[in-house]
Amino acid sequence: MARLEAAIFDLDGVIVSTDRQHYLAWKRLADEIGAPFDRERNEQCRGVDRMASLRIVLGPGHRYSEAEMTALAERKNGYYQALIRQISPADLLPGAAALIEELERRGVKRAVGSASRNAAAVLERLGIAGKFQAVVTGHDFTRSKPAPDVFLTAAARLGAAPGNCVVFEDAAAGVEAAHAGGMKAVGVGRADLLAAAERVVDSLAEVSYADLVRLMEAAPRRG
Ligand code: G6P
Ligand code: MG
Repeated sequence: MARLEAAIFDLDGVIVSTDRQHYLAWKRLADEIGAPFDRERNEQCRGVDRMASLRIVLGPGHRYSEAEMTALAERKNGYYQALIRQISPADLLPGAAALIEELERRGVKRAVGSASRNAAAVLERLGIAGKFQAVVTGHDFTRSKPAPDVFLTAAARLGAAPGNCVVFEDAAAGVEAAHAGGMKAVGVGRADLLAAAERVVDSLAEVSYADLVRLMEAAPRRG
């Protein structure tokens, strides 16, 4: 039977609300190059790494070379980094700080597993960088979610068995990555998009240590 040994948190959309900053940065770039971009297309970038997000922004049939695309992605990142300089603990999503502290008190290992290469800077600004024994970011792996690499790397750094880890994710690709790694997943956000998760919540404020203990002890879902 699985037990609650470690919790691995996606960052953007789970711990912190950076949706607005990612949207504004992509929107500015898209407007500059005349690419159509709206909130819906931004939604498709949830959990998707920077270059793959750029491909979503540009859409099919664009004529940019790889070198030009790298420059565009860097330009967007510059806009994003300027916006996240304003991030403070006030940007923590509801329940995040309390759950992380409860897990710490209960001796549950904690990691961040994020596609973002800005994750370390964001955690510093939120004032919670010291709460995690491992922070795995887009710098640490090549295969992005839905590949399990990010979460398996986090489990390995924590010294936790993957089957004893629970992952918190706001992106369907992240839930898939957790399952591919043999972990359970709690979806944070839209139930229609995250239906594959063992549980879906609106925010981490709905989750307690006791819930997670029960979730880990429950039989794994089949199929
Ligand atoms: C997270 C966000 C995505 C973002 C990705 C890479 O997964 O949900 O919207 O594209 O991180 O972020 P970065 O900070 O490296 O551009
Ligand atoms: Mg996310």
